[in-house]
Amino acid sequence: MRVLLTGGLGFIGSHTAVELLSRGFEVEIIDNLKNSKLETLKNIKKITGKKPKFYKTDLLNKSALDKIFRNNYYDAVIHFAGLKAVGESVEKPLSYYRTNIDTTLNLLDIMKKYHCKNLIFSSSATVYGNQDGVKLTEKNQTGIGITNPYGQTKYMIEQILKDTACSDPEFKVTILRYFNPIGAHYSGLIGENPNDIPNNLMPIIMKVYTGEIKTLKIYGDDYKTKDGTGMRDFIHVVDLAKGHVSALKKSLKTNATNVAIYNLGTGKATSVLKMVKTFEKISGQALNYEIVGRRPGDLAKVYANPKKANRELNWQAELTVEDAIKDVLNYLLKPAADLKLKLPVARPHYSISKAFSLLGLKNPLVKLGAHPSRTQKSTSV
Ligand code: UFG
Repeated sequence: MRVLLTGGLGFIGSHTAVELLSRGFEVEIIDNLKNSKLETLKNIKKITGKKPKFYKTDLLNKSALDKIFRNNYYDAVIHFAGLKAVGESVEKPLSYYRTNIDTTLNLLDIMKKYHCKNLIFSSSATVYGNQDGVKLTEKNQTGIGITNPYGQTKYMIEQILKDTACSDPEFKVTILRYFNPIGAHYSGLIGENPNDIPNNLMPIIMKVYTGEIKTLKIYGDDYKTKDGTGMRDFIHVVDLAKGHVSALKKSLKTNATNVAIYNLGTGKATSVLKMVKTFEKISGQALNYEIVGRRPGDLAKVYANPKKANRELNWQAELTVEDAIKDVLNYLLKPAADLKLKLPVARPHYSISKAFSLLGLKNPLVKLGAHPSRTQKSTSV
């Protein structure tokens, strides 16, 4: 089975490539490398022993896309590519609508032209809008109270895909609604490393740990949750990647339904403060944080009811938040470990950066660009 991954060098795309390759799928990747790096391809090969065929192509370039499909047959496409920074989408809405929607329309046109009839789409829990504290099922309403253009594009693309499937009973669409992906591959070779200033909690925690960001701002401790901070359904990226494999297998087999929608989450919510405390415990380093006011548009508690995916995909998240933190730390420390640098030990009263400076050393972790695997940016989901 040959699968094309758009945005396949991004955070979730690269982990999915690894899971597919290690199960015998043939994988090809399109990525514009605008916000990802070619080194990820090498690291996928290091992990799996297989190097996917790669096209440095922008999905906005329809003729280039046409050429790829003219010369190759794909059993399915997994569509990860797109812009995904929530804050940036508020500042540059037209760029988000243009990029996310036009690229999807181009892909659908070309798939139709070359009779490729199976698409898995990276959607997001953001389509559920402002439903707070509800264990969200796929039947919950979508499209109401979405607070940013990024989220709107996910919702709109879902509609486009449903209409496309409706017009062609042979065209199969699987919509995967992700909750909050965190973690890294246990090899430490691929993980999340946004180039720009990150918005999401875990990349910010990572940069506070390495000393690149001084303080983590915790947005609000007055929510109606156990400790007052927001709660989210954090899912290990490897579990999420495995969810794609299960969804793909099902969609390649079944001829029952041509639109399938699944929540990919754990069903458990962890608070921001608990995440910080767990990270401190596992890393042995205190994180500098302060409680500030709520971030506009944030909800108190967002979590999935993943039972449909558990039942129909025979899939469930197996890894914990602790596993994700250990893998993130391994990913962060790997460049230094590869250089056989003996890392100083952080203590609760001083950070790892401080430990380096006490030894008169420059903190190598601050130069995150130093490691070839540090490639994940905002364009590939
Ligand atoms: N948070 C902080 N400080 C920060 C960053 C985040 O306290 O510096 C808190 C937020 O207030 C929230 C939690 O950490 O309570 C998670 O925030 P993220 O920004 O990591 O994630 P969101 O839940 O806001 O949104 C994410 C993705 C969206 C996706 C959504 C799905 O960014 O793309 O999950 O639930 F749609």
